[in-house]
Amino acid sequence: MFSAASSIFLTSLLLLLSNTTPTLAACTRADLLAAASNFVTAVSTGTVTSLPLSTTNFTYQENNKPATLKNTAVFAQPLKIDLSRSTADTVACASYTLIVSASGSNKPYVLATQLRHSAGDDGTSAITLIDTIAATTGSLFFNASKTLGYLRNESWAEITPEAARPGRELLKKVGDAYLDMWTDRTAADSIPWGTDCERVEGSQYTRPCGAQLPRGGSQRNNGNRRYVIDEVVGSVDVLCSFDALGSLPDSHEIRVEGGKVKYVHTVTV
Ligand SMILES: *[C@@H]1O[C@H](CO)[C@@H](O)[C@H](O)[C@H]1NC(C)=O
Ligand SMILES: *[C@@H]1O[C@H](CO)[C@@H](O)[C@H](O)[C@H]1NC(C)=O
Ligand SMILES: *[C@@H]1O[C@H](CO)[C@@H](O)[C@H](O)[C@H]1NC(C)=O
Repeated sequence: MFSAASSIFLTSLLLLLSNTTPTLAACTRADLLAAASNFVTAVSTGTVTSLPLSTTNFTYQENNKPATLKNTAVFAQPLKIDLSRSTADTVACASYTLIVSASGSNKPYVLATQLRHSAGDDGTSAITLIDTIAATTGSLFFNASKTLGYLRNESWAEITPEAARPGRELLKKVGDAYLDMWTDRTAADSIPWGTDCERVEGSQYTRPCGAQLPRGGSQRNNGNRRYVIDEVVGSVDVLCSFDALGSLPDSHEIRVEGGKVKYVHTVTV
């Protein structure tokens, strides 16, 4: 009697909770990719400030430092976009967009940007964070047109069948292990390297990418890691402070195909 009553009570409580817990309406894959696409358009027209930015909680961060979108920001000018590609993280309510601007009249850029959104409980998809690593002339191995040539050759199609997609935990583990290679001598061998993997570090191309890896040696772990994980295309992007080599603003993006690393991209300032 007591236990039947408490289980009914629990059931009602759970129903109540599930009804009142805000649904993450703005965090579907389609909505995140649509927001990322609007971001790309706004970058091309220099109108990023007119995106739906949260009025109560918005931060713009450029190269790991809080900044303002006006005047000096990379996004204060229209940028010619030669290539863009976005991924979505429905758990973190975030997206990652890679933009290459190589052929415009402005300075060339390779931009690694994560957008984060409010949880959507107010039914909106306001952007709370624009987090950009902006590489340009003078950045590590920078040559935007060369980078563009490599990236145009890659396939970032959705991984099919669904059962072949890498899980979120594996993707996070691979992203972390990659960044740990400089401080942890066992990290490199924990990564499932594909025999045909390609790395584009700035504009420096390496294939296969699993040869000649760092195996510890640095005292400083790469910190301040921010993740966008997309199981559908098998990718993880980690923005970080590359402290192992001197606090460099950095993005590492990895695609896993068939359980193995296929592509690695780095954008480092
Ligand atoms: C503000 O936005 C940031 C970045 O998305 C998020 O981490 C933080 O939780 C938000 N704060 C509040 C009070 O919603
Ligand atoms: C970039 O690389 C291309 C080759 O892909 C080369 O022709 C060009 O001179 C390089 N640009 C700079 C600024 O080094
Ligand atoms: C792109 O792929 C084609 C065909 O495989 C190849 O000929 C070309 O050299 C590749 N371009 C670059 C920049 O790797």
